[in-house]
Parts: sequence; structure tokens; C-alpha cells
Amino acid sequence: TYVVTESCIRCKYTDCVDVCPVDCFREGPNFLVIDPDECIDCTLCVAECPVEAIYAEDDVPAGQEHFVALNAELSKKWPAIVERKDALPDAEEWAKVKSKLDQLKK
Ligand code: SF4
Ligand code: F3S
Repeated sequence: TYVVTESCIRCKYTDCVDVCPVDCFREGPNFLVIDPDECIDCTLCVAECPVEAIYAEDDVPAGQEHFVALNAELSKKWPAIVERKDALPDAEEWAKVKSKLDQLKK
């Protein structure tokens, strides 16, 4: 499965959503996750994300392994998002911030 990681937080560009053939993105207040039970590993979303937030489960950057469990957990709680929409205000500023897990709203 593929996983959304830290750089998505407070950006939420949503370009990823438009290309997913199985609509497996789920939307929270300031972050998106992928439902691991629905993702078919097509890889299409990876190149769409302007902040390179999406990785294969086995390829998540060191220190961000907890995002695998976080995607699984939050995908059961958040609603589906199937169409692209505007990024969050200040997305460009937050795109430059490396460590922002403390900003995640569940
Ligand atoms: Fe959707 Fe494919 Fe990305 Fe999985 S890898 S989330 S199926 S676009
Ligand atoms: Fe997030 Fe990138 Fe999608 S910022 S919403 S994973 S395009």
C-alpha cells in the first residue's frame, strides 16, 4: 500500500486525489491519508504530490514509519475525498516546514 507522510500536513494540495482509480484517499482537517485496504498500488498519486508526501509502505523515509499506522487508523475515521480542491491557506509556507507532526489535527 501507499502512505501519506508528514509533508502533507497543513498543505493538503489534493492533486493526488484526482488520479486515484479506486478513490482511497480520506480527508481530515489538515491532512490526507490512504486507506490501506483499498489502495491497489498503482503508484499514480506519487508523482502528483507537489511536496512529495506519498511513499510506498516499505519506502517511507526513516523516522516517519509511524505514518503507516497513522494512515491505517485515520482512514477508518475520516470521509472519502474524490475531487481535487484548493490547498489550505498558507500551504506554501507550511511546505517548507520539515517537522510538523505536532500540527496534525485528527
Ligand atoms: Fe490510489 Fe494508486 Fe495512490 Fe494507491 S497508489 S492511493 S491506488 S493512486
Ligand atoms: Fe497531501 Fe500531496 Fe495529496 S500535499 S493532499 S499528499 S497532493
